[in-house]
Order: sequence, then structure tokens, then C-alpha cells
Amino acid sequence: MSPFLLYFSSLFVLLFFHSPTCNAEDSLKVECNNTYNGITVANYTNNSTFHTNLKILLPSLSSNVSLIKGFYNTSIGEGSDKVYGLVLCRGDVSPDTCRNCTNFASAELLSRCQSRSSAIWYDLCQVQYSDTNFFNFSTTKWWFWVWNQINMTDSEVERFKNSRALLMHELANKTAYEPLRGMFATGKKSYSSTNNVFGLMQCKPVISGEACHKCLEVAITKIPECCDSRIGGRVVSEVCSLRFENITFFGESLVGGPAHSPTLPPVPSLVGGPPPSPIGGPAHSPTLPPAPSLVGGPPPSPTLPPSSPGESKVNEI
Ligand SMILES: *[C@@H]1O[C@H](CO)[C@@H](O)[C@H](O)[C@H]1NC(C)=O
Ligand SMILES: *[C@@H]1O[C@H](CO)[C@@H](O)[C@H](O)[C@H]1NC(C)=O
Ligand SMILES: *[C@@H]1O[C@H](CO)[C@@H](O)[C@H](O)[C@H]1NC(C)=O
Ligand SMILES: *[C@@H]1O[C@H](CO)[C@@H](O)[C@H](O)[C@H]1NC(C)=O
Ligand SMILES: *[C@@H]1O[C@H](CO)[C@@H](O)[C@H](O)[C@H]1NC(C)=O
Ligand SMILES: *[C@@H]1O[C@H](CO)[C@@H](O)[C@H](O)[C@H]1NC(C)=O
Ligand SMILES: *[C@@H]1O[C@H](CO)[C@@H](O)[C@H](O)[C@H]1NC(C)=O
Ligand SMILES: *[C@@H]1O[C@H](CO)[C@@H](O)[C@H](O)[C@H]1NC(C)=O
Ligand SMILES: *[C@@H]1O[C@H](CO)[C@@H](O)[C@H](O)[C@H]1NC(C)=O
Ligand SMILES: *[C@@H]1O[C@H](CO)[C@@H](O)[C@H](O)[C@H]1NC(C)=O
Ligand SMILES: *[C@@H]1O[C@H](CO)[C@@H](O)[C@H](O)[C@H]1NC(C)=O
Repeated sequence: MSPFLLYFSSLFVLLFFHSPTCNAEDSLKVECNNTYNGITVANYTNNSTFHTNLKILLPSLSSNVSLIKGFYNTSIGEGSDKVYGLVLCRGDVSPDTCRNCTNFASAELLSRCQSRSSAIWYDLCQVQYSDTNFFNFSTTKWWFWVWNQINMTDSEVERFKNSRALLMHELANKTAYEPLRGMFATGKKSYSSTNNVFGLMQCKPVISGEACHKCLEVAITKIPECCDSRIGGRVVSEVCSLRFENITFFGESLVGGPAHSPTLPPVPSLVGGPPPSPIGGPAHSPTLPPAPSLVGGPPPSPTLPPSSPGESKVNEI
């Protein structure tokens, strides 16, 4: 079986975003072999000191994250048994939802991964742990994306893309360079007299503004591969992420302002990315991935367009 297919089967693709809570099927991506800066990951042994430390660390993320505005990093242990853990909630979630999502994500990591470096992404939070201090790492090896299956209507697609581009660059500036925002920004821009494109950006708030801006600008360059003419999409890494939709997916009150609770995410999406490239290989795959075909999994809802889950990763140093 090719690594691509292995990847397929290890991923639980989100077909339906229904609930703001954190359910297993909501996970956007699980990476049990999450290498940072080329450092290889090994598995830990059951009941080792590392394992014990991990079992203490992960619950401490959810018990502390809500105290500190949706972000928390900590470490436990000594030497080769030391574990570093980090959680980042989406900037607009309530403390309860953040804690809940973190709790769930941490338990999933513990039960699904056995490596010394793993990460999991949900719509509303992401949790990472490693035996390496990765807290201030600002380059990313992993990009993945999720797109809405629906395309913008032909007559509006050019205006949509233009407005989206303006919005994305504005949000990158706000996210990176307006410190009071905590490296999270949302906004909207009209693309016709009645329609808007909505955007959201976030960086891990322990990196510099410059590093955040650089990451987001790279994320923006992935849009053509990810979801150029789609009505919605996300480009995600450990360091920063972006999302756009043609309907609101965060509280309207958030546009240009601080947080309230999010509205329900709207639509079914696909997860994907370019074909995997080996460590140290080319930063970009030369070709676009073929449209992945449906390999098992739940049948699409009859009211929705057919979907085809797939996923991958790319080096990006
Ligand atoms: C972890 O990922 C690296 C790079 O992607 C790969 O070379 C290595 O074989 C992977 N290890 C496991 C156990 O999957
Ligand atoms: C780590 O464990 C997973 C299963 O939990 C296994 O698939 C993988 O090959 C192991 N990796 C190494 C390097 O032993
Ligand atoms: C780990 O510890 C638990 C309980 O402490 C025990 O049930 C389990 O068998 C142990 N596993 C290994 C691989 O030693
Ligand atoms: C560790 O424990 C898990 C379940 O608790 C089991 O699935 C896995 O095979 C064990 N691994 C080793 C190396 O004992
Ligand atoms: C984090 O949570 C743990 C309990 O899981 C607690 O012992 C610790 O004091 C908390 N740390 C902070 C900084 O609040
Ligand atoms: C969290 O990460 C930052 C950036 O590396 C670091 O300065 C800080 O000490 C870390 N916090 C903890 C509790 O480890
Ligand atoms: C937290 O999760 C539980 C079950 O996973 C759910 O019943 C509860 O409503 C969630 N709470 C919040 C605030 O999301
Ligand atoms: C990142 O953190 C490490 C260890 O805490 C420190 O040595 C290094 O200078 C930091 N790098 C940046 C860019 O802040
Ligand atoms: C949407 O556009 C993409 C890329 O142009 C195309 O591959 C896909 O078939 C289109 N989807 C629909 C539902 O028309
Ligand atoms: C989003 O775009 C689709 C496709 O062009 C369109 O059918 C739908 O009405 C749009 N939604 C909004 C809220 O503008
Ligand atoms: C982003 O900020 C830079 C530097 O302040 C500025 O030159 C640029 O025009 C801004 N871009 C947008 C889209 O606001």
C-alpha cells in the first residue's frame, strides 16, 4: 500500500460540520509522526516514564488553557523523558468550548498515537506534543487543506477571488501586526452588492509578528492549489492557518472586533493537499494532486454533492 493510501486510511475525514463541540469525526487531521525540523520521531513504550509524563501533561493542557485566552504551552519531565505540549484554540471560542475541545483532542492523541511527537487538528482547537521544544518553531513541514465542494458561480468567481485576495492580505497584516488581537483576526469583504467573503486567520501566539506574517503569506499562496474557485477553504499548519467562506462561520460581531461564540460551520468539506514528498525533498510538488476517489467511508448525504476524502502533506521549510 502506498504511503498515500496509508494516509487515507489513517484519516477520519470530516464530511459534516454540524456541531461546535469536539467529536471524533470532526478531526481535520491526526499526525502521529509529527517531525519538527527534520528530527525523527520514535514511539514511546507503554508505561515508560515518557508515557507517564504524557498522561500527566495532556490533561493539564485542558485544565489550564481556558485561563490563558485559548493558548497554553507547558512541559514536564527531565532529559529524554521530557514532554512539551501545546494547545491553541480558535480565537473566537468560549473558554468552555476550548477546554472541551482540548480535552477531547488530548484523549484522541493518547489513544490514537504512540509516537514521541504527535499533533491533532480540529475545527476549534489543535493539540501538539513532542519530545522536542517546538514552542517557538515558526517554520512548518506540514500543510494540509480542507475545501468546500461547491464552486463559486462562474459569473462571480473573478470578483470573489479579487475580494478574497484583498481580505487575505489585510487579515495577514492584522493577525501579525496588531498585538491586541492575540494573533487572531476575522473580517469580511463584499464581492457583489449583496454577497461577502468572510475570512479568518490565526498564528501560534509565541512567534514574532514577522514570522506570523510570513507563514500566513505562504498559506495564501496555497489557495490556488487548495481551493481557488471554491466557495470555502482552509489552509492549515502547526504555525498558522487561514479559512475563507462565502457565508459567515464566526460571530458576525467578530468582524473587526473581539470574540463571541462562533456560529455553526456551514458546509461539508474535503481534506487534501499535494502528494507527500520525502523529508528533505522538494518543497513543492510539481503537479496538482489528482482528484482523490472515494475509498470506503460513509456515503455522502443525498442532499449534498458527492465527496471524495483524501489528504496529504508537504515539506515547507
Ligand atoms: C515519519 O515521517 C518521516 C518523514 O515524513 C518518515 O521518513 C518516517 O518513515 C516516518 N516514520 C514512521 C514510523 O512512520
Ligand atoms: C509506532 O507505532 C505505530 C503503531 O502504533 C506503528 O505503526 C509504527 O510503525 C511504529 N513506529 C516505529 C518507528 O516503531
Ligand atoms: C501498563 O500498566 C498497566 C496498569 O498500570 C497494565 O495494565 C499494563 O499491562 C501495562 N502495560 C505494559 C505494556 O506493561
Ligand atoms: C501499548 O498499549 C496499547 C493499549 O493500551 C496496545 O494497543 C499496544 O499494543 C501496546 N504497545 C506495546 C508496545 O506494548
Ligand atoms: C495546570 O493544571 C494542573 C492540573 O492539571 C495544575 O496542577 C497546574 O497548577 C496548572 N498550571 C497553571 C499554570 O495553572
Ligand atoms: C511557552 O513557549 C514560549 C515560547 O517558546 C516560552 O517562552 C514559554 O516559556 C513557554 N511556556 C512554558 C510554560 O513552557
Ligand atoms: C463538551 O463535550 C461534551 C461531550 O463530548 C458535550 O456533551 C458538551 O455539550 C460539551 N460542552 C461544550 C461547552 O461544548
Ligand atoms: C526558541 O526557544 C529556544 C529555547 O527556549 C531559544 O533558545 C531560542 O532562542 C528561541 N528562538 C526564538 C526565535 O525565539
Ligand atoms: C469545481 O471546480 C473544480 C476545479 O476547477 C473542479 O475540478 C470540480 O469538478 C468542480 N466541482 C463542481 C461540483 O462543479
Ligand atoms: C455562496 O456561493 C454559492 C455559489 O456561488 C451560492 O449559491 C450561495 O448562494 C452563496 N452564499 C451566500 C450566502 O452568498
Ligand atoms: C500590509 O502592511 C504593509 C506594511 O504595513 C502594507 O505595505 C500593505 O499595504 C498592507 N497590506 C494590506 C492588504 O493591508
